[in-house]
Amino acid sequence: MKILDGNTLSQQIRNEIKEQVAQYVAQGNRKPHLAAILVGENPASKAYVGMKIKDCEEVGFKSTLFKKEESITEDELMKLIQELNEDNNLDGFIVQLPLPRHIDEDKILLAIDPIKDVDGFHPTNFGRMAQGLETFIPATPFGIMRMLERFDVPTAGKHCVVIGRSNIVGRPMSILMSQKGGHANSTVTICHSGTQDLNKYTKDADIIIAALGQPYFLTADMVKEGVTIIDVGINRIDADNKKGFKLVGDVDYESVKDKSAYITPVPGGVGPMTRAMLLENTLLAYKRFFLQEEK
Ligand code: GUN
Repeated sequence: MKILDGNTLSQQIRNEIKEQVAQYVAQGNRKPHLAAILVGENPASKAYVGMKIKDCEEVGFKSTLFKKEESITEDELMKLIQELNEDNNLDGFIVQLPLPRHIDEDKILLAIDPIKDVDGFHPTNFGRMAQGLETFIPATPFGIMRMLERFDVPTAGKHCVVIGRSNIVGRPMSILMSQKGGHANSTVTICHSGTQDLNKYTKDADIIIAALGQPYFLTADMVKEGVTIIDVGINRIDADNKKGFKLVGDVDYESVKDKSAYITPVPGGVGPMTRAMLLENTLLAYKRFFLQEEK
């Protein structure tokens, strides 16, 4: 069993990004610049955005946080997005999800200029990804693909079962794993809450990507020997510690690990890769938009 260590790999990637940024800045260019819009007081969102800002500092990016009250109107948020779209000193920005219920998330994501959409959530970028064109791939799927590639996990011709069909993880993963180019070329099954006899699929899987958001969902009896497990879950469960909670995956790691060829831990697997890929997308936006180096 090999643990796919996202902490170590993401640190390597952050170091690579930092070196590139230092070179660009030494050549007289401004720093890459990422902005984040955070609405309301959701504790998980606040924690995620805080980490994203900290990551920017570490690699030498400029970052700007727009912290808005829960009561912000849709029009006010749309106005802010227009301003950021037009700001030439900004390479990319994200709107942290979820948004308060009085705001139409789809409308907001559509308003972001696709060339600054470093989350890769805009339908234009999603469509480009689906067609294998230059785009911004959402950070979690991008991080998983990078992990499979860097650890040289066999994927070609393998049966990959994705559990979950969210726009952020499950659906894009199913598309990326089926692509011919890159480190993929798997045969893909996408399972979800409407799937009958889930075990039939998971037991046949060479690779399982668990992205359904249920703690300890995937257990040893559901998988075959030699499986590769990618655990995307970040579930908060009550714990007897200072914080009052701990983070656990969608996989029952302790039971599944002994049957796995490769497995990602939680924490320390997919999560840090996601954070590193937002930086990578921002650097890509900077190269395309500011340096005009890439398509
Ligand atoms: N909420 C949960 N994950 C994400 C993410 O990757 N980006 C944004 N903007 N919001 C999220």
